[in-house]
Amino acid sequence: MIKMHKIFILFISIILFSNCKTREISIVDTNGNTMEQKVDSVLALMTLYEKVGQMNQYNGSWDVTGPASGKSDKDKLERLKNGGVGSMLNVLSVKATREAQKLVMENSRLKIPLIIGYDVIHGYKTIFPVPLGESASWDLDIMQKSAAVAASEASAAGINWTFAPMLDVSRDARWGRIMEGSGEDPYLASQIGVARVKGFQGDDLTKNNTIAACAKHFAGYGFAEAGRDYNTVNIGEYELHNAILPPFKAAAEAGVATFMNSFNEIDGIPATGHRELQRTILKDNWSWDGFIVSDWGSVGEMIAHGYAKDMKQASEIAANAGSDMDMESYAYEGYLEELVNEGKVDIALIDDSVKRILRIKFRLGLFDDPYKYCNEEREKTEIYTQENQDFAREVAKKSIVLLKNDNHILPLNKSIKSIAIIGPLADDKDSPIGNWRAKGETNSAISLLEGIKNAVSPNTKVIYEKGVSILTEEYPRGRGFLMPLNFNTTDVSGIPAAVKAAKNAEIVVLAIGEVALQTGEGRSQTNIKLVGKQQELLEAIYKVNKNVVIVLMNGRPLDISWAADNVPSILECWLLGSQSGNAIADVLFGDYNPSGKLPVSFPHNVGQEPLYYNKKNTGRPYNETHVTFSAYRDAPNTALYPFGFGLSYTNFTYSNLKLNKKEITLDGKTTVSVEVTNTGGVDGEEVIQLYIRDLVGSITRPIKELKGFQKIYFKKGETKTVTFEINSKTLEFYTVNKKWEVEPGDFNIWIGGSSTAELKASFTVVK
Ligand code: NOJ
Repeated sequence: MIKMHKIFILFISIILFSNCKTREISIVDTNGNTMEQKVDSVLALMTLYEKVGQMNQYNGSWDVTGPASGKSDKDKLERLKNGGVGSMLNVLSVKATREAQKLVMENSRLKIPLIIGYDVIHGYKTIFPVPLGESASWDLDIMQKSAAVAASEASAAGINWTFAPMLDVSRDARWGRIMEGSGEDPYLASQIGVARVKGFQGDDLTKNNTIAACAKHFAGYGFAEAGRDYNTVNIGEYELHNAILPPFKAAAEAGVATFMNSFNEIDGIPATGHRELQRTILKDNWSWDGFIVSDWGSVGEMIAHGYAKDMKQASEIAANAGSDMDMESYAYEGYLEELVNEGKVDIALIDDSVKRILRIKFRLGLFDDPYKYCNEEREKTEIYTQENQDFAREVAKKSIVLLKNDNHILPLNKSIKSIAIIGPLADDKDSPIGNWRAKGETNSAISLLEGIKNAVSPNTKVIYEKGVSILTEEYPRGRGFLMPLNFNTTDVSGIPAAVKAAKNAEIVVLAIGEVALQTGEGRSQTNIKLVGKQQELLEAIYKVNKNVVIVLMNGRPLDISWAADNVPSILECWLLGSQSGNAIADVLFGDYNPSGKLPVSFPHNVGQEPLYYNKKNTGRPYNETHVTFSAYRDAPNTALYPFGFGLSYTNFTYSNLKLNKKEITLDGKTTVSVEVTNTGGVDGEEVIQLYIRDLVGSITRPIKELKGFQKIYFKKGETKTVTFEINSKTLEFYTVNKKWEVEPGDFNIWIGGSSTAELKASFTVVK
């Protein structure tokens, strides 16, 4: 079959290469045909039905391997067989993907292979920390590698496309999907986005262990008003370009294969029907040649938005705006042919979409071997391996952020006499797997209790008490993703036993925070305090034992102000994935010195949201002595824990900030260096962060912007000189001239271990 298919493609390539465009000339086959020639040659054979078919994606949670159950499944089956489907999502396992691919390859006229997508967000079966948590590592190499491991496991199960990375900058802890991104900063999100794209796609998409990535959600989804998912987004052009688009541009430049548009509207135009975003900015201005998939049903949702009167008009708007593939609206398959015949959608636009889709299929090597990911042996041996588990532990420990450590209560001694492990998340083997868990199995994480038991000496007395439950009942598995959650607001019956355990222990490790399903799609909250009876438990424990270490597990910044004021030690442990408990134990007992830094600000209370360090100054910046300035009067005006913050078991001092030149031209450059010393008692890593401020701009500029970082290992006592280059890329922004440029003027620069860095220098850019 594969052979015949190859011959077929070779044949059409040979006879039709005159129909070519020469945009891409890098990949040439043995007959001298470029990939673009091959794409064109396939396109030239296609009927309108088959073209629209490529733009049509089906969900495969129905059983493609068995008989079609209802009418719609039968229709789906028919369309798969007759060239009416270009892609499927959620078809899992080698067996199922092979069957789906076979339906197309053995029945359709042109035998154009399916591209098969799945939400492989932070691991396939070996689960890594949730993306926000992993971002706290500020370690681009491990993030690239964790995406590569996820790609390798997914591809071993037949998948060749992930709907990740999510590149939505988000500054609002109320938004449940903040967990899926890399926080509040466009520069950090760009660096991490590129690392993840490189990880998924590798340097060669034709390999069978790399998969196509998807930059999502284009665009503005993270700026939903009041953090309510799917809500309206109102942002101006400059904010769009300076704060939201940079990670997408970086991903496009890094060669991300696909984009996904988003559910939200921006300033009155739904992203799925946004021509300027999709055609003008992404495809024309950025010269990006991959394809855009809609978000689930987002073509049809333009009706509810009040932007299209019916599905037909929604299809017309989306196709004309540049949305190339329809995920689950059944809109394109229903109306696109008709719309082309009526002259409402130009066939040239359809051709452009189809070519984009074919191009990615060629790049993946699917035309050479449509079954290249269908390898039972790989599926058996390359998923959830010990090696991947070991690496997941590595990533997890690097993602932990030490928020507070009074009197060096941490690290703990492994020979400690007694330790009480308390809290609703202490023995939870499921929450660390997170919400977007792909094939991560229910209850498969190493719990904190297990991790601690694995670490301590046999003589240590380990006492466990749950104290309270977060939910009134366990959520049903499987469909749990869609279930509302009922928080336990009444049952405190377990608190006395927990208090007793705390009283009798040398130290208490208290695991509190959020269950997996509290963050993710549709999981917005107006309250970011500890839900249910957790605060009551915390206070009761603290009353009887002051040696409390909080292990916080969560997918969003929480209001932990009481804990910050009272409890001596707090470890931010996010939802760390398969190896959660072991990784936390590594940090608790000092086998690993914590090095994570917050990718997002933690507020004193929810009323400060959206809260972000890179804010504007306003005309009336905060002034302690006067009331008519921009400030809250009932809460602090800074973050509880700021962006970039994170402690270590050692200390780092910064000195001797030096600028090579104090004046540079618009396209000039300078270097800035700083001496960093590990002044504490142990070796450790530090994330050295560079911030700038452009003092006057044609568009007002943020009071600080991250523009560089380096994660460096220091032996105790060691000093290193760390250097950053400052050039036009560091200083440019989207100006009033509607382009990225550097403006002359004065700049401040800071280097330090968080966004509150104080070591400062200044320089000037002259024309
Ligand atoms: C909707 C989500 O918004 C998107 O991120 C995801 O990839 C699709 N569903 C497919 O599951």
